[in-house]
Amino acid sequence: MKILVTGGTGYIGSHTCLALISAGFEPVIIDNLCNSKLSVLDRIEEVSGMRPLFYQGDIRDAELLDSIFSEQNIQGVIHFAALKAVGESTQKPYEYFENNISGTLTLLGAMRRAGCYRFIFSSSATVYGDPHAVPIKEDFPRSTMSPYGRTKLMIEQMLEDIEVAEPNWSITLLRYFNPIGAHESGRMGEDPQGIPNNLMPYITQVAIGRRDCLNIFGNDYPTPDGTCVRDYIHVMDLAEGHVKALEVCGHKSGLHIYNLGTGNGVSVLQMVHAFAKASGLEINYKIVDRRPGDVSECWADPSKAQKELGWKATRTLADMTADSWRWQKNNPNGYEA
Ligand code: NAD
Ligand code: UD1
Repeated sequence: MKILVTGGTGYIGSHTCLALISAGFEPVIIDNLCNSKLSVLDRIEEVSGMRPLFYQGDIRDAELLDSIFSEQNIQGVIHFAALKAVGESTQKPYEYFENNISGTLTLLGAMRRAGCYRFIFSSSATVYGDPHAVPIKEDFPRSTMSPYGRTKLMIEQMLEDIEVAEPNWSITLLRYFNPIGAHESGRMGEDPQGIPNNLMPYITQVAIGRRDCLNIFGNDYPTPDGTCVRDYIHVMDLAEGHVKALEVCGHKSGLHIYNLGTGNGVSVLQMVHAFAKASGLEINYKIVDRRPGDVSECWADPSKAQKELGWKATRTLADMTADSWRWQKNNPNGYEA
């Protein structure tokens, strides 16, 4: 069964290709390489034994999409391709709306023309805004605080409207919490360009000596140690969640919504200590001002996914930190190494 994976050479997409291949699916990738490298394909082949078919191109290119659907017998689409940097989205909102929203609409149009109605969308816990309580359930109210977050929320709303009007669609919204970690082989992982925005790649770059010191954004939050609490999930658990969603929801029309998280809250300081333990290295850090837009606590109630998809994150914080470190240590310059 061929599955079109948009953004399939990116961080989560590439790990999901591994999980798809393990489960007997055949990923077909489209990616414009705006935030990933071609050599990811070599690594997918090395780790899985299968080289996915690859189309270098843009999801806003309707003609290219039509030709992919006519050349390949695509049975479903997992849609990762998007711009994702929250800070950058406030500087370039047009580019974010154009890429993420126009791109999704163009993709949905091509799917309709091809008669392919099985769709899984990469959403984010960012759609819960500043949650009124934790753990967060799927029916909590939604709001967002950045143009990036608004692209996710608007796409969720578009998909809801489309599913109501066209009930032959099977649409699954997967809301990811904080993906970290890397494939346990140490051959695939996250390879951010420039200064990392997210916590784990920043920590690993301090550990490898590429950055001097981690800035911890605030220690005066109403949390046990004053630093923010998040739900970090191993990228391979997340990848496997997509396979489950495809297997379970792919056969059911309608709209399906799941949190993909572990259900455990971990503070920034706890993460620094867990990483130090996994790597045997001290992480140099200092406390600086809060980062605008950060919420104090955000973690999932993942019980709906467990009940309905039979999926549960199994990898521990020790696994996540050890795998992140193995990837960084073995590939100090990411995929350029
Ligand atoms: P990533 O940047 O590593 O991967 C996205 C891929 O999409 C990249 O390879 C990029 O080149 C490609 N792409 C972007 N725009 C494209 C376009 N117009 N046409 C073709 N390809 C295009 O990001 P990721 O971390 O793997 O995230 C994947 C998805 O998950 C995104 O939709 C992101 O918003 C969502 N998400 C990520 C996180 C996270 O923490 N990483 C959390 C929640 C949701
Ligand atoms: C960020 C995004 C969110 C996105 C998520 C996953 C913001 C405001 N939110 O969430 O929309 O869905 O990534 O991609 O950017 N931290 C530091 N120092 C650092 C980096 C981070 O102290 O150098 C702290 C942050 O303040 C936060 C925690 O570490 O408390 C996690 O940060 P990050 O990895 O950026 O994820 P989120 O803030 O949860």
